[in-house]
Amino acid sequence: MTGTLLTFPDPQQISLSIRASALIFADPESQKLLSLIERVAPSEATAYIKGETGTGKELVARHIHSLSPRRKGPFAAINCGAFSETLVESELFGYERGAFTGAVGSKTGWFESANGGTLFLDEIGDLPLSTQVKLLRVLQEREIVRIGSRKPTPIDVRLIAATNVNLEEAVKAGRFREDLYYRINVVPIPLAPLRERPGDILPLVEHFISIYKGRLHTKEPELHSDTIRLLLEYPWPGNIRELENTIHRALLVCDGNILRPTNLNLPITLPKNTFQDCLGSNDQASEDLCMLEKLFEQFFEQGHDELHELVQKKLVLQAYDHSRQNQVQAAKLLGISRNVLRTQLKHFGVID
Ligand SMILES: Nc1ncnc2c1ncn2[C@@H]1O[C@H](COP(=O)(O)OP(=O)(O)OP(=O)(O)O)[C@@H](O)[C@H]1O
Ligand SMILES: [Mg+2]
Repeated sequence: MTGTLLTFPDPQQISLSIRASALIFADPESQKLLSLIERVAPSEATAYIKGETGTGKELVARHIHSLSPRRKGPFAAINCGAFSETLVESELFGYERGAFTGAVGSKTGWFESANGGTLFLDEIGDLPLSTQVKLLRVLQEREIVRIGSRKPTPIDVRLIAATNVNLEEAVKAGRFREDLYYRINVVPIPLAPLRERPGDILPLVEHFISIYKGRLHTKEPELHSDTIRLLLEYPWPGNIRELENTIHRALLVCDGNILRPTNLNLPITLPKNTFQDCLGSNDQASEDLCMLEKLFEQFFEQGHDELHELVQKKLVLQAYDHSRQNQVQAAKLLGISRNVLRTQLKHFGVID
């Protein structure tokens, strides 16, 4: 989506309030975040939502708007990454007739459209540096000047910014202005990836089943225990959006009353950048595999006692160290569940 605008009263208001009330935040970490969101929503503070793709940034932005005194005003959403460098300014600030070749009429920018409401600037990290300067000025002066005009227009907009890139790194690399970063980073709202809030997975599954069974006019299926295990162990790189699509598709193909693991049609769950993930995918990986095979041959010839145990211990401890003792990360690297990792760490005497 490049830009959307909701103004109330509007039929979409109904669907918006349903969507807002259907926010699932069941994991203890998510509940903490929800109470932060509910505390800051009624204020005027700029919120800065960061999270991987599909973690619910836009849904949270809409929720903040719906809980704020501005809820009767418009909610405008614009994806800053969807426009070229030259277009993005006219989208944000608007232009007057004749401002540039092709400007045959005037155009209202998103700041003006959001007046009295909330402006959601998605992918703010994609804004060119020249636009960042202008945005900072708008936020400080609380007025915009359309391209091709000299007349400032006062604006009364609450800003919510979002990004799925690391803005701190973009600041260090000089791609994002530090002053603008501090201006928007008033209330940071970090949305964790789904794999780091496993308590949300099954409530979300239930939520999406109830939505899609209604739309597809199907019965509510039972979840096979292997399906539950897979849902909990899969790393969900596309987060909640991927989970939603998976449930939608699974309900379409599920025959009968039981949702089986194959209905989920998930890729075999090898996490990114693991050794297995690289197998056969490039020359370096094949070379590494050959070296490992040679090493194993040597071990077999030397007749190591408890080779399996030794290799497993090395693998687990190295992943654990590499992840700086973060169990979720280490389990992800190894492609196993956190529970299995904990059992192994206990077995090797690393944790009690
Ligand atoms: N906590 C939640 N409860 C229920 N549904 C959710 C939740 N979070 C996200 N969703 C649903 O997941 C989908 C993706 O959410 P959303 O578009 O807000 O993610 P996003 O972070 O903005 O993604 P992207 O970075 O790709 O733009 C939407 O259909 C949304 O309704
Ligand atoms: Mg989004």
